[in-house]
Amino acid sequence: MNGTPGHSAIYPGSFDPMTRGHLDVIERAATIFDRVVVAVVVNPQKREPLFTLDEREAMIRAAVAHLQNTEVTHFRGLLADFVRNTGATVIVKGLRVVSDFESEMSTALMNRSLSGVDTVFLPSDPKWSFVSSTLVKEVYNLGADVAEYVPPAVLHVMQSKRPAPRPLGS
Ligand code: PNS
Repeated sequence: MNGTPGHSAIYPGSFDPMTRGHLDVIERAATIFDRVVVAVVVNPQKREPLFTLDEREAMIRAAVAHLQNTEVTHFRGLLADFVRNTGATVIVKGLRVVSDFESEMSTALMNRSLSGVDTVFLPSDPKWSFVSSTLVKEVYNLGADVAEYVPPAVLHVMQSKRPAPRPLGS
């Protein structure tokens, strides 16, 4: 990333799996910044991921293939170290609801303190403000159709991992 003129933005996350909300943030970031690097954390803090690192990266790569200035990679350990090592000039995060702001604010300040790099928040499109990876997995496992909430490449991998059960009454 060093040597690229302009702003290189890192969009970090667990992406377990990527949702249409994530994709919307990436597409908008790609119009604002010169370069966007989607960085998949190897070991999410929350719990063991459902999707392998390779699956998470491949799903994102397929979903962002139409964006010329966007690439996908992964990192382990501190985001601040990754940001410093890559020479990124900004971190991008999406904000869906007020509770996101509460946690993201302290994270942004810690990351700036550790790396000197600021976080830019993009408000989620209201269309996706209720969509999270966790909810998508939960409703899918209970038989819901999630095609509306995830990019086609993600749906494909979800279905190949475990076909959705038939909803009751069908
Ligand atoms: O998609 P998520 O789960 O909201 O992403 C969270 C992520 C990966 C951005 C965050 O957990 C992270 O940065 N992890 C790396 C470890 C780290 O740097 N932790 C300290 C943050 S101040």
